[in-house]
Amino acid sequence: MKICTTKDELHRSLSALRKGGKSVGFVPTMGALHEGHASLFKAARRENDIFVASVFVNPIQFNNPDDLKNYPRDFGADTEILEENGCDIVFHPTPEEMYPEGSQPKTYAFGALESVMEGAQRPGHFAGVGVVVGMLFELTEPTRAYFGEKDFQQVAVIRDLVRQMGIDVQIVSCPIKRGEDGLALSSRNALLTPENRAKAPFIYATLSASAEIVKANPQTSCADIKKFVEERIASQAEMKLEYFEIAHPDTLQTAPLDAPAQGNVGFIVVWMGKVRLIDNIRY
Ligand code: PAF
Repeated sequence: MKICTTKDELHRSLSALRKGGKSVGFVPTMGALHEGHASLFKAARRENDIFVASVFVNPIQFNNPDDLKNYPRDFGADTEILEENGCDIVFHPTPEEMYPEGSQPKTYAFGALESVMEGAQRPGHFAGVGVVVGMLFELTEPTRAYFGEKDFQQVAVIRDLVRQMGIDVQIVSCPIKRGEDGLALSSRNALLTPENRAKAPFIYATLSASAEIVKANPQTSCADIKKFVEERIASQAEMKLEYFEIAHPDTLQTAPLDAPAQGNVGFIVVWMGKVRLIDNIRY
């Protein structure tokens, strides 16, 4: 596996490998890799001639300086996981390499897609994601790019980015990877205290129970599902609900409270101590 730390090095290494029209599968990450990432790596490896990953904690997508500072980083462990999954090239630039002083990266606006949920709670987050993923797509020119559905809203934003850039890259969204206890795998799980880690699966247990209610009665309204989820999370002293929204899977706009939840997606963010946990479920 080749480790490239500059854009030039990445360009040279990738051009040499992709001769003869080979397909490139690309997985952008912020490192702290876990089994969730590995499922994206496996798909990228399986479906393409060349598998490229990036490991870059993108400062401009963090609206909270503490979150950026505390974001887990372990490039040594990351390279092992990438090697195990057959990565050909990993791009691991510094912030200065990505954003040299005085440079003006291309920006994108995502309209209604970025004014709700994660976009509303983390102003500037998707603008920062758009800038970095746009740059990474220009650098790697992938045939396919892989994203996890845990960040469901991000996948919608990336599809819109591809449309705005007018590039021919297939966005592959991969199902959420969960621990055996149901907790959605996330780099942030490593920051939970052992007590909170033990209680965190309650979030998915609540989402699953809400999906069972919808399955049993497809007419169940969004209002009833919201009440169920909000009350359950409120019953847990260690958990603070940031939001639970039921929204359309494509537009991400909130479904009317009196409409059936079925066909929509439930999006949740819960704080446990200083850790922000995100998950979602299809109804
Ligand atoms: O999902 C992530 O890890 C990041 O938002 C991404 C897509 C790598 C951009 O920094």
